Amino acid sequence: MAIFSDDDDKQKSFKLSSKEKSENLDTKEIAFDKSFENNIRPRKLDEYIGQSALKSTLKISIEASKKRNKQIDHMLFYGPPGLGKTTLASVIANELDTKIRITSAPALERPRDIIGILMSLKNGEILFIDEIHRLNKVTEEILYPAMEDFFLDMTTGKAQTVKTLRVPLPKFTLIGATTKAGALSGPLRDRFGIIHKLEFYTKEELTDVVSRTAKILEIEIDKEGAQIIASRSRGTPRIANRLVKRVSDYAIVKSNGKITKEIAADALKALHIDESGLDSTDRALMSLIIEKYDGGPVGIETIAAALGEDAKTIEDVYEPYLLQEGYIQRTPRGRKISPEGYRLLGYKTSSAQQSLF
Ligand code: ADE
Repeated sequence: MAIFSDDDDKQKSFKLSSKEKSENLDTKEIAFDKSFENNIRPRKLDEYIGQSALKSTLKISIEASKKRNKQIDHMLFYGPPGLGKTTLASVIANELDTKIRITSAPALERPRDIIGILMSLKNGEILFIDEIHRLNKVTEEILYPAMEDFFLDMTTGKAQTVKTLRVPLPKFTLIGATTKAGALSGPLRDRFGIIHKLEFYTKEELTDVVSRTAKILEIEIDKEGAQIIASRSRGTPRIANRLVKRVSDYAIVKSNGKITKEIAADALKALHIDESGLDSTDRALMSLIIEKYDGGPVGIETIAAALGEDAKTIEDVYEPYLLQEGYIQRTPRGRKISPEGYRLLGYKTSSAQQSLF
């Protein structure tokens, strides 16, 4: 498999993305991050941990595509960031022994951006578009006939002399990824043959991810050390992998380099990551609702303004895990903190909240 990506364009769009801002990454860190992630990325479906329902579906589709010598169906992966959507697309390309071209919707600004890419592909190759819900209308409309019939509809001439040309395209596969499936237009969503949500990872799956990454990086870790890192990674392999690196640095400086239960706990304490794995934004969000809004309900825009964050970032990046763990709840009148959320942050449930639950 070969990967060719719009790195320059990606950097540009990364710089503008509030998701990245929220993770406090500057461009240099992103570059480091990309090579670190590439190093530890699984190459085969059997090496890819978790998402078992999706893996079963993919195994069949990959096998069928190989047997028929036909491109695999267009696919849409959605779910919170860091769960391995790009990784999975690269794994699929590798399994099919084909090339993958990786880009993201903000890099496809002008019609010629997408047209250039589509025309440069070959039969069976994969085009991966991250943040696909952010495609502009014109680019999206170019994709409709491209995905459905493998044609580009081009117009030439002006006014009365205008002619439509159908330019054939290679039989490619589009893999789209989004944190926000609901923001995708109906016509675009309908053109994907496989639509699948990626789920948060269980503690056991994340323990396997941590042990695997440590092995690749030649870091010594015992099972309990791996379990501690896993349990504080918000169900997200990208976080688990970053923590392996941070904890390993700590183990090297403070001890003999081996990650044990004690070293992992000390390192995570020093990193201000509590036992639930929540970070400072998660905690600030929940404390705000408790302290300023008596536990809620309170609207997402109000929360965003008070935290100085973008409402979409809160909805796509922070909320999904807090909702899944039951620390906050979504109601028609806004977000509120559950009794577990109160307990987790060490607050007593307010009397108003007690009567609500
Ligand atoms: N690294 C990141 N995601 C992974 C996964 N699902 N399996 C194995 N390694 C990973």
